[in-house]
Amino acid sequence: MTPSGTTSGGAPGPAGQPAWELLLPAAGAPARRRGRALQEALREAVRSGRLAAGTRLPSTRELAADLGVSRGLVTEAYEQLTAEGYLRGERGAGTWVGGAVRAGRVGAATGTGGGGRDPVAGVPDVRVDFRVDFRPGTPDLSLFPRSAWAAAQRSVLARLPHRALGYPDPRGLPELRGALAGMLARRRGVVADPERLVVCSGVAQASTLLGFVLRARGLRTVGVEDPGSPEHGRLFASTGMETVWLPLDGEGLRPEPLAASGVRAVVVTPSHQFPSGIGWSAERRAALLDWARTVGGYVLEDDYDGDFRYDRAPVGALQGLDPERVVYAGSVSKSLAPGLRLGWMLVPEELLGEVVERKRTMDLGNPVLDQAVLAEFVTRGGYDRQLRRCQRAYRERRDALLAALAARLPGIEVSGIAAGLHVIARVPALFGPPERFLARAAEAGVALRSLEEYGTARPSDGDVRLVIGYAHLSPSAIAEGIGLLAGAVGA
Ligand SMILES: Cc1ncc(COP(=O)(O)O)c(C=O)c1O
Repeated sequence: MTPSGTTSGGAPGPAGQPAWELLLPAAGAPARRRGRALQEALREAVRSGRLAAGTRLPSTRELAADLGVSRGLVTEAYEQLTAEGYLRGERGAGTWVGGAVRAGRVGAATGTGGGGRDPVAGVPDVRVDFRVDFRPGTPDLSLFPRSAWAAAQRSVLARLPHRALGYPDPRGLPELRGALAGMLARRRGVVADPERLVVCSGVAQASTLLGFVLRARGLRTVGVEDPGSPEHGRLFASTGMETVWLPLDGEGLRPEPLAASGVRAVVVTPSHQFPSGIGWSAERRAALLDWARTVGGYVLEDDYDGDFRYDRAPVGALQGLDPERVVYAGSVSKSLAPGLRLGWMLVPEELLGEVVERKRTMDLGNPVLDQAVLAEFVTRGGYDRQLRRCQRAYRERRDALLAALAARLPGIEVSGIAAGLHVIARVPALFGPPERFLARAAEAGVALRSLEEYGTARPSDGDVRLVIGYAHLSPSAIAEGIGLLAGAVGA
C-alpha cells in the first residue's frame, strides 16, 4: 500500500479495496466490544504490514463516518495506538502509521541482544524503539561464539575436498546427521537414527515440510495449542492446512477436546509449552501418544528451547516414547542464533521418503558449508560449551527478572517451570485494566506482550497476564525495565 494522503476510503489495499475496509468487521462488532475490536484490527493491520509505515490515516471524523461508528471510538483508538507506538500523531497535521515504528527494523533494546524475529508480528516484522523490550522469542545474540565459529569455518574450508561443494544429500551432510543424532540422543533422549534425521532450516521449515506431506496424504486440519505460537498456525496454513485451536490446561492438551476435534495431526511444545510455560505432565504425554496411535495420527514436537532447564535436568523429548508417531523438530535458533537458519527433524519411517522428497524439491538441501561448520562445532564440543554458557546466562537473567518483579510489583505471580527464555507473570487487577497497563508500559518505553495475544482465552478477572522474554536482556536492563514498568503503573 502506498502512503495515503487521501481521506475517505483511503488508499486501495492489496486486493484493490479501500484500505479502511479491513476495519469494517471490527466496526460491526457489538457496541460493548466495538472500541476494543477497532483497536485490535488497527493494531493487526499495522503489525501485518497491511497498513504500511508512513501511511496517513484519515481524520477521526472521516474514518468514523466511513465506518459508521462514533468519532469518540476512533479518537480513542488513535490515542491508544499512538501511546503504544503504532501510530504517530502531530497536532493539527494528522496521524500516520509509524511514529517510532519502522518496518523491518530490529528494535534497539537496552542491554544485550534485543530485536530479532517477533513470533507474533510475523516476518518481516514491525518494531518499535523501546527502552527495554521484554517481548519473547530471541536469545542473546551477543553470546554467539564468534571466534569458535570462525575457527570451525577455517578448519572446514581447509579440509573439505572440492567434490563436497556439489549438491548435498537433501537429508543433510552425513557427518552433520551423525553428530546431531549423537547429541540429540544424549541431550534430549530422542531415538536418533541418523538415517531418519533430516537437516532443515529450523522448526519453521520442519513444520512446512510436514504440512505439505500430510496435506498430500489428504489431511486438511492440524491442531495447535491454545494458547500457542502463532507461527505454528501460519506455517501450516501456508501448506494448505487449516488450524484448529486445542485447549490446554495446567498439564498439557486436554484429551477430550483433542479427541472430539477430528484432527489427525497436532503440533505441540511439551518440554516447555509456548507461551504458557508449563511442562506437560507424564499422563498427558502418554494420552497424546495413545490418541496418535488410535487415530493413526502424527505429533509434531517443537522442541524449541528444550535444552534450557534451571531447576533440574531437562525432561526428555516426547519423541523418545514413540518415534513412529512423533516428528521431532529443533534448531540452533535459541542456542546459537536464529539467523543461522539451521535445524533438524527426526522423521517416522513411514513419512521419511515423502519428507526428504519435499525437502529436495523445496531447496535441494541446506548450504554445505554451514552444515559442515555445525558438524565440526558439535563434534568438537563447541555446541555443548555454548549450551552451558547460555544456560548460565539465562538462569541468571531469569533470577534477576523474578527478583525485580517481586521487589517492584508486589502481588505478581510468576508461573511455569524454570526453563527456557520466558516466563508468564500474572499482574493483579489493582494495577489497572489490561489495556491501560500495557499502554502505560509502552509510554514508559517498555515493550510487553500479553498472553491474550497467543490464544482465544479472554479472562474477565481484570488481571494482566504477561509473556516476558528475558534471555536477550542483561540483568541490569531487566531491572531497569521492571523499574520503568512499576513507575508507569504506579506500583
Ligand atoms: C514456539 C517456537 N517454536 C519455534 C521457533 C523457532 O523456529 P526456528 O527453529 O525455525 O527458528 C520459535 C521462535 O521464536 C518459537 O517461538
